[in-house]
Amino acid sequence: MIIKKADIETIAVKTSQYPSQEFPEIAFAGRSNVGKSSLLNLLTNRRNLARTSGNPGKTRTINFYRVNDEFRIVDLPGYGYAKISKSQSEGWGAMMEEYLEHRENLVKVIQLVDIRHAPSVQDVQMYNYLRHFGLDGIVVATKADKVSTNEKQKCINVIRETLGLSGEDKVIPVSALKRTGYDVLLNEIESLIQR
Ligand code: GTP
Ligand code: MG
Repeated sequence: MIIKKADIETIAVKTSQYPSQEFPEIAFAGRSNVGKSSLLNLLTNRRNLARTSGNPGKTRTINFYRVNDEFRIVDLPGYGYAKISKSQSEGWGAMMEEYLEHRENLVKVIQLVDIRHAPSVQDVQMYNYLRHFGLDGIVVATKADKVSTNEKQKCINVIRETLGLSGEDKVIPVSALKRTGYDVLLNEIESLIQR
């Protein structure tokens, strides 16, 4: 698939702000700072489409990006960001639940984890939650440039074991810095939206 066009369509904090359900949606979930916004920029070949930051907690809204007038990529707010209050974190939970449990045109959630670390307790919780709703199956291991080729498979095995992945579940290493892995992911997305 070639991405010819990608633009922000809507920024939402509640259901009434979501765009219409005419396009299939693929969402990105993962802890804050894992590289969700960077991956979106990589896939769409747009350096600054989604704002990225070294400070965790950059994306705090649900951002809908329309791609090729064919589907949407949805950048979800990151979890595990320590510097937020209890009420903010409850707001985050409600916002995520509303989207993940009720969005009928949501096809798949791509869970992002940092290739260097074993998935956190929250990563595991998120993945189990996705599994419960049948939205699991694709994991992206971000920041692949940070490990050597030798270490890569070992890191992927740790991710597979910690998340309890089955043989069919995919782990795709990507690097937004080196611009690698996005073609594999794009092929996955293509087959998901054509179903
Ligand atoms: P929130 O919006 O806070 O949820 O974070 P996010 O998941 O959108 O992360 P973001 O894309 O903003 O990236 C966080 C930091 O990681 C930035 O400093 C990026 O430059 C860096 N980063 C993202 N992807 C990569 C990668 O593939 N390699 C390296 N080395 N750094 C990366
Ligand atoms: Mg972000």
